[in-house]
Amino acid sequence: MRINWNEPRFGSEELKEVEEVIKKSYINEGPKTKELEENLREYLGVKHVILTTSGTAGLFLAIKADSLIKGKKDFEVIVPDLTMIATATAVGWAGGKPIIVDVEKEKGTIDFNEVYKKINEKTIAIIPVHVIGRAANNKKLEEISREFNITIIEDAAGALGSMYCGRYLGTLGKVGVFSLQSNKIITSGQGGIVVTNDDVYYETIRRLRDFGRMNNKEFFHEIEGYNLKFNDLSAAIALAQFRKIEERKEMLLEQRELYEKRLSSIEEIKFFPYILGEIPLWVDVLVKNRRDLVNYLNQNKIYPRECWPALHMNPPYRDHGNDVDFPVATMISNNSLWLPNGPAISKEQIIYISKKINEFYKNGT
Ligand SMILES: Cc1ncc(COP(=O)(O)O)c(C=O)c1O
Repeated sequence: MRINWNEPRFGSEELKEVEEVIKKSYINEGPKTKELEENLREYLGVKHVILTTSGTAGLFLAIKADSLIKGKKDFEVIVPDLTMIATATAVGWAGGKPIIVDVEKEKGTIDFNEVYKKINEKTIAIIPVHVIGRAANNKKLEEISREFNITIIEDAAGALGSMYCGRYLGTLGKVGVFSLQSNKIITSGQGGIVVTNDDVYYETIRRLRDFGRMNNKEFFHEIEGYNLKFNDLSAAIALAQFRKIEERKEMLLEQRELYEKRLSSIEEIKFFPYILGEIPLWVDVLVKNRRDLVNYLNQNKIYPRECWPALHMNPPYRDHGNDVDFPVATMISNNSLWLPNGPAISKEQIIYISKKINEFYKNGT
């Protein structure tokens, strides 16, 4: 049987929630969306939660709001090289220029020494990415934000439920964004969660997302906005998923622990460190001979996934620099692998995958 990298799982709880929405015929943004927003607000301990169509849309709304609030048209936003392309794409959507910096070796998160070098009068924001649940250094972030009056927009797309010093990632900066896409801890297929404690950012993002609509005048639009609203069908699925978040956290921790136990004696494999409170959304490891290992696993019907190509390797961002300019992101991007995990993967499968990896390195392939 094929072992795929990461797949969502749904049960009768999701069906029941969706059935309720269909029976009521209210599938636009309505009571289920509100209920999910309220649940997330309480869970994360934030003042405002806004649901939107995707994590990318959430990042876009946060950056657009920041530029409008600051009255900046010609602006730059600093992003790490090691991330999914959406982090940079969202800056472009909002009319800004992404400025790419390298990441630190230990965790693959944004390197603050590099950030300092790129700050100038056009910089309005930094987007630290909490790479699959690993916190970007938050003390440094807060210092930079204060020193240069730069907004921190957290890309916590893969970090819902993960914590740093007892606080949820995504709730530490001005605005935080999570993704509900299908490989995340909970999913609605597609979807994004925007959180903030700031009333002005909240109101700006809310309006931008809803055609620029004023609250009390249904068809009066004070600013030119977008239609990036959520819908109750997706909210129904996400609500049922959300009730499983604590058990999902446990499951992800156990899965990674099992891999670590079975693979840590292999010299050619290195795990990234996670600290207490951080949740490993996926199991990423640095491996020797990645291509050969992947081929070997594929022959055994096991399908891990290679890490994102670093931003600078993608055609739209090639003029930002080359591998020499971003040595750490290049090294991680070229050598790391995401092993199969998530709600569709059993303990037995992890033991089997680990056995095959052990076999590969023992045979000196
Ligand atoms: C780090 C990161 N940022 C942004 C996104 C974009 O989120 P979405 O797919 O919900 O648009 C993703 C998606 O996986 C991601 O991994």
